[in-house]
Amino acid sequence: MGHQRKKLISLAKRLLNHNLNGSTDQADKIMIKKVNDYIDDDIISSEVSKIFYDHPVPIALSAELKKKNSYKATKAIDTPLLITRGEDGVVRTFINICKHRGAPVCPEGRGEKSKFNCTYHGWMYDNKGSLINIFKSDTFGDIDTKNIKLTELFCEEKSGFIWACLNPDVKYNLSDWMNEFETELDDIGLKNWYIFKSTTLNGPRWKICWDGYLDGYHHHMVHPETVGKNTIVNLIAHDTYGPHQRFAFGLKNINELSKIDEKDWEPENHIRLIHTIFPNGSVSAIQNQHCLVSIVFPTPDLKGTITTQYILCLKEPKTKEQIKEAEDFSELARKAIVDEDYPMNFKIQDSINSKANKEFIFGRNEPIQQHYHKWVDKLSSK
Ligand code: FES
Ligand SMILES: [Fe+2]
Repeated sequence: MGHQRKKLISLAKRLLNHNLNGSTDQADKIMIKKVNDYIDDDIISSEVSKIFYDHPVPIALSAELKKKNSYKATKAIDTPLLITRGEDGVVRTFINICKHRGAPVCPEGRGEKSKFNCTYHGWMYDNKGSLINIFKSDTFGDIDTKNIKLTELFCEEKSGFIWACLNPDVKYNLSDWMNEFETELDDIGLKNWYIFKSTTLNGPRWKICWDGYLDGYHHHMVHPETVGKNTIVNLIAHDTYGPHQRFAFGLKNINELSKIDEKDWEPENHIRLIHTIFPNGSVSAIQNQHCLVSIVFPTPDLKGTITTQYILCLKEPKTKEQIKEAEDFSELARKAIVDEDYPMNFKIQDSINSKANKEFIFGRNEPIQQHYHKWVDKLSSK
């Protein structure tokens, strides 16, 4: 039996047993979290700097820079990024700030280009970050251009994502940080998927927003007509890889498996698998054909979030029917997040501002958020 099938069968078994017993994967105990930890400017700013800047975070998808000499200019929190794939196929990430006087070297967007003309006075850099031309250099004065390079960040490509440390002083061993989660992500094979659509969304504060991505306890209330239509609420198989997590929900047809011989199971039709990359990435593949990837960064003022949301298809949809399926999936994801999750999360944000609660309570049946908050505390207390 292939490794992927074995894994899905074992997850389906766990979920089927839980469903038959009325149980779910649980944390050891209830967790109490101070509401202040969601909004206190000093706490949030220290956590963001220790977590988002000093550890590798996903900043883009490999599928966005498939070709040699492609690039993406984007922003993570307050750091403008220029991500390039060189002629050598290697991905590099630079802070998108010119060494002359600090203007963006490249406007935000993505495309194919190997040289970047700074947007202010036109200094030119190559996609390895080296300065290759100074506009009107004969009048500029003596300067050793060989030593002028864009500030490069630690960057590595792995499991279909491009990871970087936003703090330029930090170098990292990405494998240590992954805790073998890369083998889980590799099973999805994201780098070969086709990006059908990508959009950005404004969301509530970081931890309020991210709690929503880790929640398996709300589908019946918030998503009765979208994702909750097919998933059973409060039925989770939960596994952790250092700070990263994989969880599976049971679909409403899970009990059918008890009537089928295991060798005939198609487990992917009975479970929904979600991978969350600490601290800000979520990969949710539906029946291995369509996938929703979200990367969420706090806004520069740390009072909200910007989500980059990707809709991917295993293969480029070509027929009318395939395009319609991709559109339908995209609309389902949009509705669930934009019309349902984020409005709920904004209401929670309002409730925090009202000071009604001093604490939030995470139940034993909410092990995913518990794990997340434990890691936030662990990394930010150092
Ligand atoms: S700031 Fe880039 S060329 Fe002047
Ligand atoms: Fe939700």
